[in-house]
Amino acid sequence: MQIYTLKNKSIEVDFIARGGQIISIKVPDAEGNIADVVVGYDTIDQTLDGDAYFGAICGRYANRIVKGEFEIDGEKFQLDCNNEQNHLHGGFDGFNLRNWEVRPVELEEYVQAYQLSLTSEDGDQNYPGKLEVSVIYGLTDDDQFIIEYEAETSKPTVINLTSHPYFNLNGAGNGSAMNHELLLNASNYTPISAELGTTSGEIVSVKDTPFDFTTAKLVESACNANHEQINMIDGIDHNFVLDDFDGTVKLAGVLSDPESGRKIEVYTDQPGIQIYTGAHFNGLEIGKQGAPIVQCAGIAMETQIFPNSPNYEHFPNAILRPGEKYRHVCIYKFC
Ligand code: GAL
Repeated sequence: MQIYTLKNKSIEVDFIARGGQIISIKVPDAEGNIADVVVGYDTIDQTLDGDAYFGAICGRYANRIVKGEFEIDGEKFQLDCNNEQNHLHGGFDGFNLRNWEVRPVELEEYVQAYQLSLTSEDGDQNYPGKLEVSVIYGLTDDDQFIIEYEAETSKPTVINLTSHPYFNLNGAGNGSAMNHELLLNASNYTPISAELGTTSGEIVSVKDTPFDFTTAKLVESACNANHEQINMIDGIDHNFVLDDFDGTVKLAGVLSDPESGRKIEVYTDQPGIQIYTGAHFNGLEIGKQGAPIVQCAGIAMETQIFPNSPNYEHFPNAILRPGEKYRHVCIYKFC
């Protein structure tokens, strides 16, 4: 399978057409030492056989929809339940498993860019409407890797696209990213309900909880806290509600590694960000550098609409109608 590369003078991003999977991002530290900062595998064969969410575009609905059920204008839809009782990341055959059409594009703001396109037919995974999706992967000369999503539908449908790289700024394969510091511009989060396996629709303040990243702190300190929400899934696997959401691109968070000095700023125009500390990695799988993929081998920061939004009036709108355009920008800026 072909590897596509985006390169500026300091950074290199590699991806493949299957799932648009970002298979490596090579970034220097202050001394110029290069590390590949996304969790993955050493070979394409391992990538194709391995965890297909690594670095992939997730959709049509990234994150969970409870029991795979939703309604639009009184009509009920039933999606695959591919994650116990819930629908996750678009179902059994999500966008992360599709072969995207890839072509280079010349856009003024990028040193290099590719467009990834996909047509998802009406009824695909039981979603209504034929969906035309375009994703731009672009690299700027000031080290911003930008993902621009757009989609249009032939019938009212639900949509929530995201990207799923796990970052380890000390280099994938060099152990856990628990020692990274995280800052989030989020005063609230959406707790998980044990019964639903995903959000219960509550929006709760992070104040006096391990979920308070409004000032930067060690990921480890939150993951080791004795808190019902942390214990339930052995770490963080939660959607954070970004402050001052108004649909414009704003700083959502900053992940930094005190050891290497590398840092990522995440910007988005979306209302939420899912932080996942990779609780399900158990060291049994071998990843980059031939090293076991240990718990918290990397941290995912998935900009998004909230989980299960189609079922909650008070959550941001996830319905896309004919004539409208779904738009989403996610920027990973390497500093
Ligand atoms: C994350 C999700 C996790 C897990 C992972 C894929 O987005 O929050 O619970 O399902 O994707 O392995």
